[in-house]
Amino acid sequence: MQATKNAGVTSDTVQSGEWGKFWETQKTAFYEVMKIATQGFAKRLVATLQINASHHILDYGCGPAFLIDDLKHTTNYIAGADINPFFIEQARHNHPHYTFVLISTDTEQTRLTLQQQLAGKQYDFIVLLSISQYFPDLQSFGQVIDMLSGYMSSKGKIVVADVIDEKTSSYRDALALLYQCIKRGKIISFTRFMLYVLFSSYSQTSKRAKLLMISREAIEAVAGNCGLKCESVPGLTIHPSRSNYILSTEQ
Ligand SMILES: C[S@@+](CC[C@H](N)C(=O)[O-])C[C@H]1O[C@@H](n2cnc3c(N)ncnc32)[C@H](O)[C@@H]1O
Repeated sequence: MQATKNAGVTSDTVQSGEWGKFWETQKTAFYEVMKIATQGFAKRLVATLQINASHHILDYGCGPAFLIDDLKHTTNYIAGADINPFFIEQARHNHPHYTFVLISTDTEQTRLTLQQQLAGKQYDFIVLLSISQYFPDLQSFGQVIDMLSGYMSSKGKIVVADVIDEKTSSYRDALALLYQCIKRGKIISFTRFMLYVLFSSYSQTSKRAKLLMISREAIEAVAGNCGLKCESVPGLTIHPSRSNYILSTEQ
């Protein structure tokens, strides 16, 4: 989701965590069209990374588990984490046999929570889909990547998808979404979603706190600080103007 074309800040701008507060309390932010976008991502993710039934996946910032709805057909080893108790409750209700962890925008608190609830677990793929733009600054995003790198299996990868940067255009992304909705006869759902993005508490929040833009150089630096290499993967999500990266230890 992105509210305006110019929404964004340079990676070193520090903000107050408005987006964290927004997401902690949201109950209505997930719409049918987002499921369409997530389904597109799941398909491309499974094909690109050749995910199979033996792989373990952690969906960090999972929302109500839309991605897990799609990945459950590929593997049974799935866990999710999110800062919103309502989404975590929904995720647990829909997938009672998977682990869902309620985390916090405070990385140290989250580190402790994950140590308790995911102790000893290692994941082949840790996915952050459409969440990097909601961090208050690059530093807090980097701290989370550093924390998550401790949960990667030996050949594990961290997938950071739908990253917003200088090239991002919400108009191009909305057109791509519209195209997918037209193909599925979901114009009313698209209209409802756009009204939400433009006129709801989401748009109010975006006036107070810009979305975090992360450049390729910045994400490479974050990866480098964690001893990871960073590869750009165009076309992993349906949003043509957003960027996607795979962080891994492999040479
Ligand atoms: C646009 S939604 C994407 C949800 C999901 N990844 C998907 O694509 O279906 C953003 C999600 O990130 C979560 N989120 C926001 N800030 C977060 C943070 N600092 N740590 C973890 N999750 C966060 C929100 O609660 C929300 O569920």
